[in-house]
Amino acid sequence: MAYSDKVLDHYENPRNVGAFDKGDETIGTGMVGAPACGDVMKLQIKVGADGVIQDAKFKTYGCGSAIASSSLVTEWVKGKTLDQAMSIKNTQIAEELALPPVKIHCSILAEDAIKAAVLDYKTKHGVAESKEAA
Ligand code: FES
Ligand code: FES
Repeated sequence: MAYSDKVLDHYENPRNVGAFDKGDETIGTGMVGAPACGDVMKLQIKVGADGVIQDAKFKTYGCGSAIASSSLVTEWVKGKTLDQAMSIKNTQIAEELALPPVKIHCSILAEDAIKAAVLDYKTKHGVAESKEAA
C-alpha cells in the first residue's frame, strides 16, 4: 500500500524522537499499544507552570503510519493547553496524513497516547480529570 507524501515525510524525518526523564514532575508519559497489530507508542509532554505544553517527544515501534501519526501529534501539542491537547481527534490526524481505512488504528494510537500522557501529568499533579484549575 502506498503511503501519502505527508506520511513519508514524517516517517523519513520524524520530528521530536526521543524521551524525557519519566520522573521529572513537568513530564507526562503515555504508553499505549495497538491490539490490532502489536505496535507500541510512547509519547511524552513537557508542561510549563502555566499549563501549556512546551515540548513533546515520542518513541514508536510500529508501522510508518504510526510513526507519522506520533510525529505529527508531537508537533501539534506544542503551545497547546492540556485540555486542548485532550481534544485532538484521531480523525484530524488521519485526515492530515490521508491515512487509508486500514491505517486508522495507527492514528487512534496517537490520540490515545497523547490522552494517556496528559492524564499521567494530571495524576502526578493531583488534578482531577473533571476540574482542572484554570
Ligand atoms: Fe503493526 Fe503496522 S501492523 S507495524
Ligand atoms: Fe498498527 Fe500502524 S499501528 S499498522
